[in-house]
This record gives sequence, structure tokens and C-alpha cells, in this order.
Amino acid sequence: MKIAFVGKGGSGKTTLSSLFIRHLVANEAPVVAVDADINQHLGAALGLSDDESAAMPAMGSHLPLIKDYLRGTNPRIASAETMIKTTPPGEGSRLLRVREDNPVYDACARPVALDDGEVRLMATGPFTESDLGVACYHSKVGAVEMCLNHLLDGPDEYVVVDMTAGSDSFASGMFTRFDMTFLVAEPTRKGVSVYRQYKEYARDFGIALKVVGNKVQGQDDLDFLRDEVGDDLLVTMGHSNWVRAMEKGRPSRFELLEADNRLALQTLQDAAEDSYAHRDWERYTRQMVHFHLKNAESWGNAKTGADLAAQVDPAFVLDERLAVSAAQPA
Ligand SMILES: Nc1ncnc2c1ncn2[C@@H]1O[C@H](COP(=O)(O)OP(=O)(O)OP(=O)(O)O)[C@@H](O)[C@H]1O
Ligand SMILES: [Mg+2]
Repeated sequence: MKIAFVGKGGSGKTTLSSLFIRHLVANEAPVVAVDADINQHLGAALGLSDDESAAMPAMGSHLPLIKDYLRGTNPRIASAETMIKTTPPGEGSRLLRVREDNPVYDACARPVALDDGEVRLMATGPFTESDLGVACYHSKVGAVEMCLNHLLDGPDEYVVVDMTAGSDSFASGMFTRFDMTFLVAEPTRKGVSVYRQYKEYARDFGIALKVVGNKVQGQDDLDFLRDEVGDDLLVTMGHSNWVRAMEKGRPSRFELLEADNRLALQTLQDAAEDSYAHRDWERYTRQMVHFHLKNAESWGNAKTGADLAAQVDPAFVLDERLAVSAAQPA
């Protein structure tokens, strides 16, 4: 299943993503972790040193390889140049699996060792000031969207994306790619204002959105969040001394995380699993087509000089049943 953490800057997206990833790994689940946030800190939160984080390959700089691999022998996609971030898979496309080895992971993913096992980490690559609002920024996040659209995920395997809550994810359709979106909110007016904006987009596309209160201290904080987000409040996390120790460069073993925070992480996993069980694969495919047609019309056709609507394979549905053929060696 695919899970996103979004929220206001500094709310704790990266911290909660990394704790959730550690929790999944402790439960022996295979995980691909993706850092798609403007501030690239997921590697550090998973324990990478500065040098190791800096050595992470940037997905954005492997776009030609990613496109060429994913388009496979799909006759509707004539070349990597005509493949845009929203180009949906069809007959002949290659799909990614969480557990396999493939050239995309070889180029873009690095293993990260945690206390209880290993995860694959991928990162969009750092954003610079000049990236924001221009094509480069889109292409970096676009690499993630393309991989998500071509990723055939099973019920016991996880893709966890640490992501910015900006309007770019709404333009592209990236925000519709998840079985569960956890909106991390501190009990502040700014924290819940991001929730309101996200909720509006989410409603139009039937997105499963739950609020995770963070740095919640006492009843007053809890009451505030309940009043503001109602039943969308899934669970809250308090201040964590375990996280603090980690921040000081003195990490302790994950099994020593506070029991109530550990319980909260299990609540997140249960909610995500429940949501995945209800995924409508046809609707999931339809939404990628919807955003592709929208992007083709607004800029893609003009940019590539091709009619990108013709890339849509009307008979194709990304479906668990494809997993059988995708698992066979090429
Ligand atoms: N539950 C918590 N207990 C203690 N410290 C926390 C907790 N949640 C977050 N923090 C701290 O708050 C700071 C911001 O958290 P984090 O970097 O995860 O936020 P973010 O939403 O990813 O921020 P950005 O928008 O910069 O990416 C960090 O120093 C982190 O260690
Ligand atoms: Mg962050």
C-alpha cells in the first residue's frame, strides 16, 4: 500500500514518516521509503550520516532511465521524450514491485539499515530556491509520481512518502496516489489550516485523509484538534524524548520508543491497511488517466509536440492480478 505524510512545514512529517517506517520494519514489513519533501531530511531521520544523505542519488536526475524502463514495450509511448510525469502505464509497460530488484532501484534507491531490518530509500534530490515554481521542481516530484503510477503494491508491502503539502501535488494528481494520507498537524491554527485546504481537494477525489496530531500536550491541545478536525483526527503523538535523543545524535534502540507513541504508530498501520483493503483499482487507474489528460492539455502536448491523450490504453487497469505476470522474469 501507498502512504503519504503531509502537513505544514515543521509539523513533524519527516519525524513521523521515519517512526512509521521503523515501526513497519519492526513488524517485518517490506518498505520503500521516498523523500519527496522540499527539505530532504528523511535519510537523516532514518539515521544516515550527512555524507550518506548527500550521497543519495536524486530521482530527478535519473528521469531518462526511469522513463525508458517504465515504458518498456508499450507501443503507445513512442519515446522517453514523450513520456511525461502523468503518462499512465498500459499494455507493455513495466511495473515496479516493492520487493523486487530493478534498474530504477539500482539507480535511485539505497538500502538503509535500521535496528530491525532494512528499507530501500529513494529521494527526489534537494530543491534549491530556483527550483520552486519552475519545471525542475515538477520534474523532481514527477519522478515520484511516475514511479507511484507504475508501482504494483500488495497488501503487506509499503511505500511511504514524506511529502510537501504544496499546491504542486494537487496540480499533478500525486495526492490521489495513496491509500492513506496522514496529515500531520500541531494543535495550532496554522496546523489545521493546511488540513482544511487538503480536505477540500481530497473530498473531490475520494482521498482517504486522516489527521495525526503531533506534539500534543494535555487535554486542551486534544480538545482543540477535536473541535477543528472532528472525526478526521485519527490519533495524537506527544512530545517524544526518543525523538529528542535521536536529534541530539544519541539514538536509542527503536524498541525503547515510548509505549504510547508505539501504540499510535500501530493505529496508523491499522488505518492504512483498512484503507488499502478498500482500494478500487479501476478508480485508481481512472484518476491517473484523468490527471494525464489534464496535464497533456495544459502543457504536455505543447511541450512534446505530440497528442499525449493517445498514450492512454483504455483497456488497462492497474490491478493486483497483474502481480503474477509482473513477478515473472522479463
Ligand atoms: N513528537 C515529537 N517529539 C519531539 N520532537 C518532535 C516530534 N515531532 C517532531 N519533532 C521535532 O520537531 C522538528 C520538526 O520536525 P520534522 O523535521 O519532522 O518536521 P517536518 O514537517 O518534516 O518539517 P519540514 O517542513 O522542515 O520538512 C524536528 O526537530 C523534530 O525532531
Ligand atoms: Mg521534513
